Amino acid sequence: MAKSPSFTCQACGAAYTKWSGRCEACGEWNSIVEEKPLSAGPVAKSLGARRGRTIVLSDLATEEAPPPRTLSGVAEFDRVLGGGLVPASALLVGGDPGIGKSTLLLQATASFARNGLKCLYVSGEEAAAQVRMRAQRLGLADAPVKLAAETNLRDILTTLEAERPDLVVIDSIQTMWADNVEAAPGSVSQVRAAAHELTSFAKRHGVSVVLVGHVTKDGQIAGPRVVEHMVDTVLYFEGERGHQFRILRAVKNRFGPADEIGVFEMTGGGLAEVANPSALFLSERDAPAPGSVVFAGIEGTRPVLVELQALVAPSPLAQPRRSVLGWDAGRLAMILAVLEARVGIPFTGLDVYLNVAGGMKISEPAADLAVAAALLSAREDSAIPRETVVFGEISLSGALRPVGQTENRLKEAQKLGFTTAIAPAGSKFGQVQGMTPTTMPDLASFVGEIFGAG
Ligand code: TYD
Ligand code: MG
Repeated sequence: MAKSPSFTCQACGAAYTKWSGRCEACGEWNSIVEEKPLSAGPVAKSLGARRGRTIVLSDLATEEAPPPRTLSGVAEFDRVLGGGLVPASALLVGGDPGIGKSTLLLQATASFARNGLKCLYVSGEEAAAQVRMRAQRLGLADAPVKLAAETNLRDILTTLEAERPDLVVIDSIQTMWADNVEAAPGSVSQVRAAAHELTSFAKRHGVSVVLVGHVTKDGQIAGPRVVEHMVDTVLYFEGERGHQFRILRAVKNRFGPADEIGVFEMTGGGLAEVANPSALFLSERDAPAPGSVVFAGIEGTRPVLVELQALVAPSPLAQPRRSVLGWDAGRLAMILAVLEARVGIPFTGLDVYLNVAGGMKISEPAADLAVAAALLSAREDSAIPRETVVFGEISLSGALRPVGQTENRLKEAQKLGFTTAIAPAGSKFGQVQGMTPTTMPDLASFVGEIFGAG
């Protein structure tokens, strides 16, 4: 009989048949731990007559309409869910410790409870009195939410069986502990077992379950990564420390669009919704400055304008610095290479800093042209006109490629008082009053047009 793997990396969940000091999958040191399997061998027999029953798809469709989603009333949260909470769904909400996950979920749960959902909030990190104190501070003390301070999975399942809530929040999955698994709480096998039990309970009994998971410093989720595929929806709560803004982002959603974002601001009284994020991300802008460019982006289904800031300065280092915040460092390197190879503008001997204002993170390739514009504007010390937005993808040949949802980008820009857009040739603009788009076929013509000969 083949030996089954019984050593698991606690960082990424990779399984091995023998111990080693370093995980080959993720490169983590000292993260491999022996784990005992839950039960020996496969279960030979079905547990009941209903198990494994098949249904013809067309029969299922006529049975009944899907139950309606419930809105929490926290509009930014509902939007990220894809239009409210789907009954019997399982969610994972990940984020750095202290980013505001417990605050967000307490607020959302209270809101759901006030809308008539039967809600249970299980805290494994704080005592019930502490959760209540927080609720009081948030002005939610009168919300009909049931609290439990519990970490034992068996006890929680018993409580769920007795209470049968519509929604249960588990804060956090790393504190949960199944007594039939021989591993410490927070280890991959504990997290996996707890998540499995809770999500299958949710599916069986029509309970929606929200699992809260802490992410490690570098953005990697220790335990919860193994949970991602078990749940219907994965949300990340992110933000820069020192910034008030928090962004809730759907990275996976079986019931709605992924990449949808909700924007919040952390205040003394909890998280406040930000209905118009563009205005917020641009609020720090005053006079046009070299290196500053407004990118008309799309986050999920919503257009968001963000300011990109670049600084280019002579470097004392043999290997000049490339520092980027809120964007992909590899993509920055690519743009610098294209600028040098296709347009003849080198950045050798220059330190380059690129920053997305407001703690926002951008992943769209549509930001390429705006990044190039910011870099050039900083390098040439020449400001891009204030009322201009920029977007477009740059290919390795230096050609500009049109991007999706151009009309929505223009509409958002127009709403916020912009009058010009610089975009790739071939973009489909539609009709947006008061916006005059300028199109460019490639990066070289962009540089010629905006910065003279370069
Ligand atoms: P918390 O929700 O406990 O974070 P997490 O569950 O992700 O670990 O948030 C903790 C931080 O939020 C803490 O640093 C204080 C801040 N905070 C406020 O600024 N205002 C508030 O009303 C609350 C409840 C928290
Ligand atoms: Mg917490």
